[in-house]
Amino acid sequence: MDVKDAIQKRRSVRRFKEGEVSNNLINELVEAARLAPSGSNTQPTRIFVVKLKAVRERLHKEGAFDQAFVRQAPLILVICGDPKDYGGEDTPGLRGRGEDRCARDLAIASSFIVLRATELGLSSCWVGLIHPGPIRKVLGIPDRYMIPYVICIGYPAEDPGPRIRKSRDEIILGET
Ligand SMILES: Cc1cc2nc3c(=O)[nH]c(=O)nc-3n(C[C@H](O)[C@H](O)[C@H](O)COP(=O)(O)O)c2cc1C
Repeated sequence: MDVKDAIQKRRSVRRFKEGEVSNNLINELVEAARLAPSGSNTQPTRIFVVKLKAVRERLHKEGAFDQAFVRQAPLILVICGDPKDYGGEDTPGLRGRGEDRCARDLAIASSFIVLRATELGLSSCWVGLIHPGPIRKVLGIPDRYMIPYVICIGYPAEDPGPRIRKSRDEIILGET
């Protein structure tokens, strides 16, 4: 599968088969995040890998996410980053921008993860509707890390069908 195929094939999947994701495949996903670019090569991405069913259940029970499908995914990657990694408080134009920069770089790493997952025959869904407080509590993630979303991963038990997207003309804001 080439990159174009992976981009076309990736869809958000919210129903997964029972089968777990092997550690080899998890390592491939982490490797994709590791090689992703980041501003000033800051590499802020940290990943908490959640496989254990008991922990997934506990996250759900303690209110980490409202959507039941999240706990049914055999693998949840909790995406974390420390905005302070960016420093920059003394640099004009960068002051106070750590969170923006961190969120931006985590999104890039996460995109690499989901495209690689697609190539490996896995399906995924970003979940931004989460409550970081309970996630921190259950997993022991320090407060300094922002947790913008988690990514559910597993083998698909549904085919979402064709995607709805804006046309090219709606996307092009201008051309010169
Ligand atoms: C940052 C982000 C957060 C998302 N959060 C959720 C979520 O909380 N729950 C959910 O069911 N889907 C969530 N999604 C999935 C989107 O709804 C989905 O990507 C969008 O509808 C386009 O569909 P596709 O991914 O199949 O192309 C999220 C996607 C992104 C990129």
